[in-house]
Amino acid sequence: MNLKPAWLGAYPSGGVFLGKLIVRGNMPLKGQITISGSKNSILPIMAASIMSNEEVVLTGVPDLEDINVMAEALTTLGARIKREDDVLIIDSRSISSYEIPENISRKMRASNLVMGALLARFREAKVAYPGGCNIGSRPVDLHLKGFESLGYKVNAEAGFMEGKAVNIKGTEIMLDFPSVGATENIMMAASMVPGTTIIRNAAREPEIVDLQNFLNRMGAKVKGAGLDTIRIEGVKYLEGVQHTVIPDRIEAGTFMVAAVITRGEVCLNNVIVEHVQPVVAKLKEIGAEIYNCNAGIRVTGSRNLRAADIKTMPYPGFPTDMQPQIMALLSTVKGTSVVVETIFDNRFMHVQELRRMGADIKVEGRVAIIKGKKYLEGASVEATDLRAGAALVLAALSAVGESEITGVYHIDRGYEKLHIKLKNLGADIERIE
Ligand code: EPZ
Repeated sequence: MNLKPAWLGAYPSGGVFLGKLIVRGNMPLKGQITISGSKNSILPIMAASIMSNEEVVLTGVPDLEDINVMAEALTTLGARIKREDDVLIIDSRSISSYEIPENISRKMRASNLVMGALLARFREAKVAYPGGCNIGSRPVDLHLKGFESLGYKVNAEAGFMEGKAVNIKGTEIMLDFPSVGATENIMMAASMVPGTTIIRNAAREPEIVDLQNFLNRMGAKVKGAGLDTIRIEGVKYLEGVQHTVIPDRIEAGTFMVAAVITRGEVCLNNVIVEHVQPVVAKLKEIGAEIYNCNAGIRVTGSRNLRAADIKTMPYPGFPTDMQPQIMALLSTVKGTSVVVETIFDNRFMHVQELRRMGADIKVEGRVAIIKGKKYLEGASVEATDLRAGAALVLAALSAVGESEITGVYHIDRGYEKLHIKLKNLGADIERIE
């Protein structure tokens, strides 16, 4: 949704489109596309922007529903936001509330990332518990333990997480699990706490490095992001800055799979090759040909693809956000593949939908056994979450016949104009609102 380039009172997040996609598959994709800015980098950086009372300008910001929801959350606090194409301008000088209500935190889990930023700048925060979502229970215990270690008094009852500075000072925090969100929330909360904070067993995702670079540009002192130990020296004040977010490695991975599953050839521009290495390595093992080309990478799906085993792991392991997509591909290559989902406890919702297209997949707990088929058949299927929806689009692109995919609003959360980008690669796809 392109907003009027003027300060907005309430920043309305986009409506829920009850749209559907019609796809006629079994055609190779060919051509080139440009990857958009990273959703999972922009969301924490938008949250961090309220740590300064000066204007922050973010560029390379795609038009995604999750970004609209985060903007709505910040506007609810009193920030003023305007968008001009892929530029987002956030002015937090007039923030007057420290509370994120349930109707917003239910829309998107990542709104809990505002808590660390509010605690840092205003020393208090009240955020409604993020809704669990289809892919798992999504607790926030590691976030809260981190805030408590920093000296914030935290209590979580009646559906709210509340925090208030009591005796805040730098500390050492050992994460039980390298949680992406907990690492980001603690980085933000610690950036303006006096003293030195060390986060051990930190998540190493590229989005954590982008957040560190953004914070340091604002005047924070954060070191070590991308490794498992992050050191933060608290500062008193953060300035407004301009920042261009990194490209979306999961969107890139999704289009790489689109090239391979349709046995086509696609050149992806605006990719940081290092960030997609785990997916490149696996696609090469399956038999894809992948080369660096001018501003990114060229991916070709050949005829002699073969099965491979997948185990999702924290970065730099194979990303859980690519598990549904790679499962769609493995459903169409000769042989038996085993997929183990170690990050989330319910991230196989796409399996029953893929089965409707003829996929042969057996699930035992967190393990899926896939027997590849020569062809999938078009069918009516429903997206249950963001990446599951992407997987169904990929399967439909390869299937013989026509598919109808509902629940498209899940896809809108994380993919900007997916059907237009695919149509530009030759896909027979249309969107019906
Ligand atoms: C981020 O979610 C991403 N979202 C997810 O992407 C991604 O799947 C996930 O990291 C893992 O890479 C954003 O960055 C906005 P976690 P996050 O905390 O931070 C458990 C997408 O499709 N856990 O690393 O919520 C949790 O239950 C989305 O773009 C705790 O137990 O992920 C899960 O099993 C989906 N306690 C595991 O850790 C906590 O306090 C990984 O969660 C926090 C997490």
